[in-house]
Amino acid sequence: MKVLIISASPNDEGLTATCARAAAEGIQAVGGQATLEPIARKAIARCNQCKDGWGGCRPHHECFGIQDDFQALHQAVREADAYVFVTPVYWGEMSESLKAFTDRLRRCEAPCGDDSALADKPIICIAAAGGSGGGMISCLEQMERWLGHVRARRFDLIAINRWNAAYKVDTVRAAAQAMVSAR
Ligand SMILES: Cc1cc2nc3c(=O)[nH]c(=O)nc-3n(C[C@H](O)[C@H](O)[C@H](O)COP(=O)(O)O)c2cc1C
Repeated sequence: MKVLIISASPNDEGLTATCARAAAEGIQAVGGQATLEPIARKAIARCNQCKDGWGGCRPHHECFGIQDDFQALHQAVREADAYVFVTPVYWGEMSESLKAFTDRLRRCEAPCGDDSALADKPIICIAAAGGSGGGMISCLEQMERWLGHVRARRFDLIAINRWNAAYKVDTVRAAAQAMVSAR
């Protein structure tokens, strides 16, 4: 099973990166193929809201409005069998890089309905909070709504912060392992 891990923090040694590495370990432990894509420094512009707002992508399922790193990541999404999305919690929401990426991906894939590139593929979403430890639930709620739009299968939604990290990183590893084993 090919699993695409999208990691959306600029910190290479932070909690988000730790979760992404733990997920990769869990995937590889049971023979899965993990591809890690840190996206915070990639060029992913926000959606242009082309045409009347519905966008030129709606009938074609590709983003033609902006050529940047999105296209290669979109292709990686198509080729993957499962996903792990891990974001730092910023103001109770996903980070800006993941928001820009998921906004454009939804524009392309949501109109496909059950033929979405993510349809019925399992995904683990992880919200990594560090400051107050607050906002994990609102962040996951935002991600969960997006999963519905692209018809992905909600394998797990994991909230992690600096107080529970000692055991929740193990949970991330176990969840990724279970997701690969379940296929
Ligand atoms: C702009 C910004 C907003 C943040 N908002 C929250 C928040 O709402 N709740 C929280 O617990 N931590 C918040 N934090 C702290 C991050 O969630 C925390 O630093 C987390 O560990 C980031 O992940 P990282 O270590 O992978 O960078 C915020 C940090 C930044 C930079």
